[in-house]
Amino acid sequence: MNEPRESSIGRPLTRVDGTLKVTGHAKYAAEFNPPRTCHAVMVLSTVPSATIGAIDTAAAMRMPGVLLVMTHENAPKLPQKGRAAVNPPAGREMSLLQEPVVRYNNEPIALVVAETFEQAVDAASHVRFTYRQTPAILAFEDAKKDAYPPKELTHGPTDEAWGDYAKGLAQASVKVDATYTTPFENHNPIEPHATVAHWEGDRLTLYDSTQYVSGVQETVAKTLGIAPEDIRVIDPFVGGGFGCKGSTWSHVVLAAMAARAVKRPVKLVLARPQMFGPVGGRPCTEQHVVLAAYRDGRLVAFRHDVLSHTSVFEDFTEPATQPTRALYAVPNAATTQRLVKLNVGTPTFQRAPGEATGTFAMESAMDELAVALGMDPLELRLRNHADTEPSSGKPWSSKKLRECYDDAARRFGWSKRSREPRSMRDGRWLVGWGCATATYPAHRLEASAVAILNTDGTYTVRSGTQDIGTGTYTICTQIAADALGVPVEKVRFELGDTRMPKAPVSGGSMTAASVGPAVWNACKALREKIAAGGKAPLMAEGKAAPSKESEQKHAERSWGALFGEVRVDPELGIIRVPRIVATYSVGRVLNAKTAASQFQGGIVWGLGMALFEESVLDRRDGRIVNGNLAEYHVPTNADIGAIEVAFVPENDTAFNELGARGIGEIGITGVTGLVANAVWHATGRRIRELPITLDKLL
Ligand code: MOS
Repeated sequence: MNEPRESSIGRPLTRVDGTLKVTGHAKYAAEFNPPRTCHAVMVLSTVPSATIGAIDTAAAMRMPGVLLVMTHENAPKLPQKGRAAVNPPAGREMSLLQEPVVRYNNEPIALVVAETFEQAVDAASHVRFTYRQTPAILAFEDAKKDAYPPKELTHGPTDEAWGDYAKGLAQASVKVDATYTTPFENHNPIEPHATVAHWEGDRLTLYDSTQYVSGVQETVAKTLGIAPEDIRVIDPFVGGGFGCKGSTWSHVVLAAMAARAVKRPVKLVLARPQMFGPVGGRPCTEQHVVLAAYRDGRLVAFRHDVLSHTSVFEDFTEPATQPTRALYAVPNAATTQRLVKLNVGTPTFQRAPGEATGTFAMESAMDELAVALGMDPLELRLRNHADTEPSSGKPWSSKKLRECYDDAARRFGWSKRSREPRSMRDGRWLVGWGCATATYPAHRLEASAVAILNTDGTYTVRSGTQDIGTGTYTICTQIAADALGVPVEKVRFELGDTRMPKAPVSGGSMTAASVGPAVWNACKALREKIAAGGKAPLMAEGKAAPSKESEQKHAERSWGALFGEVRVDPELGIIRVPRIVATYSVGRVLNAKTAASQFQGGIVWGLGMALFEESVLDRRDGRIVNGNLAEYHVPTNADIGAIEVAFVPENDTAFNELGARGIGEIGITGVTGLVANAVWHATGRRIRELPITLDKLL
């Protein structure tokens, strides 16, 4: 039936949705306008901890176009006071106007609905609250004396140790003992959170910008006390997620509550300053690391103790010890995670949670150890290469990190690096070269898909997954084309709707590895039906799930080697990063073009974390003082030099049928360590606090 043809998988196919996006035809959540849509604006608290006293809504209610001012006094009472902790931390404790309390600054405390967006914004500024303020915890340094162990990490135990740390330490000849910090950060996708809620009788449709349509369905159903089947979530395009859109936050449910109250569709879009508080963020960390080695550089012991902040009402743990449990071969280790409560919104997953923060500490400490040993930092990493997972002794499903180091070091020209700091210059600029290792675990979950042969001879393939800008539409089209044995032009892939077969959250870098095999299986099943004489219209379903045996037999992780150059102005402390060379071991690459651009984007974000990003919490009132894009700095084109990304050929069929591990998050990992190490080489200054801003170099 099908002639043998060249594989579509792997080809640098241009995004199939690219034209829709650049012509403005890709429809994002806030662009859905059911008839009679009105507009909601959240009112957020201005104090960090309080009981709400008198509320004056009269002035706002009198303003033109205002339909509703909802506060705890008139909000519909929800089951469990709106605390639908379906699956914490992904099912958040939300702020749904059930109680007169404020637990952090910028917490939702009212909702104003009006005919137009402008009327709602104006009226929202006229709702008056009286607060009886209660003591707030806002200083991490003071609060850390009350640090406590969380119940669990997202993956793995809170504390993990192997061998005998104290005994190993006693055998060491060289030690590094240092504390590293990473700041509080907030996600800033270009498209802020947005929800349009539309009731038709008892059935609710939500157009929502989310990384998880079925997660929103389940959480909203439990929160409102209705059946999940009565909720449909639609999400064809997402303008960036990065973890903040992996959970269902208050505004989604508030939009649904308001729409029911005014009996009209309600649109709720967060303003940029509202992205700082009620929708998570990356918690700050303080990480104590001890590395202990023999004279020849082999690690004999390490410990990594991590403190990170959470809110006063919910635990979220930034699992920074996770990468250190896997990175290097070491016989004796101890790792712990503790939480520090603050009066802030509950933090959440922010791209490469744990790995982005943990690799800063570990990769900096490895560089400090190389200096203490008088050893090349790449040589030190090769000497401690983990041939099996250090904590469990399990073999890797596939790992080509040695090849990554070789390839990237050669392309960068690492052998020409001089050992001493401040030894390389270009005119007035101090030049520094650094290296680091990148890593992120390989996850997958059960997913399903359906494939349809249409009467015109084309194919439609669907899965209730999401494309958060990562290229899901494109790679799933390629996978379907190969499984069906047809060119990509014959296939239309659809996603982002709870009426489609169920798929997991587009988080944890698992969409390609989870949904890809389901698409493959659905298309294979359809192809068999066609081969057996089936005629259009014809459909077949496919499911895929991780194999328990493989998970028990193997450790599954991706890797990368990073080399980079920084230039530092010795008088002004200005830092430039003209060049980064990286090679990754991520299994089979499904699309050479989207993969390379995803890695470049990840590295750019790593540079943001290394040099710019920090949410500054005001100790007096718990507000983030730079909660806007003018003052929350992210890299722009002028900040970015050459980023040269390559992949080692690999096919990880022990992990899944496609041989592919996810690539959503590994790009950001290691970059901060790389920059800190190169800054040390340029200046002789070891900066252990992110971001590395110029004031820290003066
Ligand atoms: Mo990722 S932080 O799991 O979207």
